Amino acid sequence: MQRYTTTAIALHWLIAVLIVGAFTLGLVMTDIPGLTPTKLRYYSWHKWAGVSVMLLAVLRLLWRLRHRPPALPASMPAWQRGAAHGLHHLLYVFIFAVPLSGYFYSLAAGVPVVWFGLVKLPVFIAKDPALAATLKGVHYWLNMAMAALVALHVLAALKHAVVDRDGTLRRMLPGRST
Ligand code: HEM
Ligand code: HEM
Repeated sequence: MQRYTTTAIALHWLIAVLIVGAFTLGLVMTDIPGLTPTKLRYYSWHKWAGVSVMLLAVLRLLWRLRHRPPALPASMPAWQRGAAHGLHHLLYVFIFAVPLSGYFYSLAAGVPVVWFGLVKLPVFIAKDPALAATLKGVHYWLNMAMAALVALHVLAALKHAVVDRDGTLRRMLPGRST
């Protein structure tokens, strides 16, 4: 069976690790009471990781548009192919929508983002408390929806690896090309 390209595999796992990290940090940091140095540090790390996801997602999309993924196993029923493609498209949408909602929330709250404390990122909108309140909710709910889709995605990947043993997981794992 053909594999994904090394670039696609690297981007898939790098983005997945950053998303899981940003998600966990998001839940932890918002639970810290008051305004402590640790909390502020976690907010910065969260934003840096989130912005990195957004930039890597641009690279990933450009790469994906020029490199078709390997065909799914012939044994896979049509509905499963449809479901896999639909879910992958949705995941691509969320990889952009989640960090963008966080970015615009930050701007509406009046806090410009300085990526890794070095690069001041563009401010597209002025401070707007009403919009900030809305975007905070949007960021939260987009995150919960993405978490549900990722859970489904991981369960499907594990089902293919453990029950079907059809090599779909292996083609997204680093290793020798076959
Ligand atoms: C893949 C990227 C991202 C993920 C998975 C993510 C996830 C989360 C999660 C789970 C929360 C906690 C929500 C809550 O419990 O209320 C959160 C909060 C937050 N996120 Fe993100 N986020 C991402 C990107 C970003 C980016 C790029 C920014 C800004 C540049 C950002 C800014 C914030 C802020 C300011 C909060 C705190 C909201 C509050 O005070 O309640 N996020 N994020
Ligand atoms: C935040 C976490 C994740 C996101 C956002 C994500 C997203 C995606 C997307 C968009 C694709 C489609 C790639 C393409 O065709 O261009 C994909 C493929 C894949 N993912 Fe993930 N993924 C995540 C985590 C995981 C994890 C934890 C696993 C394994 C347990 C996994 C296993 C796979 C596999 C096996 C494929 C290839 C499916 C196929 O061959 O059609 N992913 N992922």
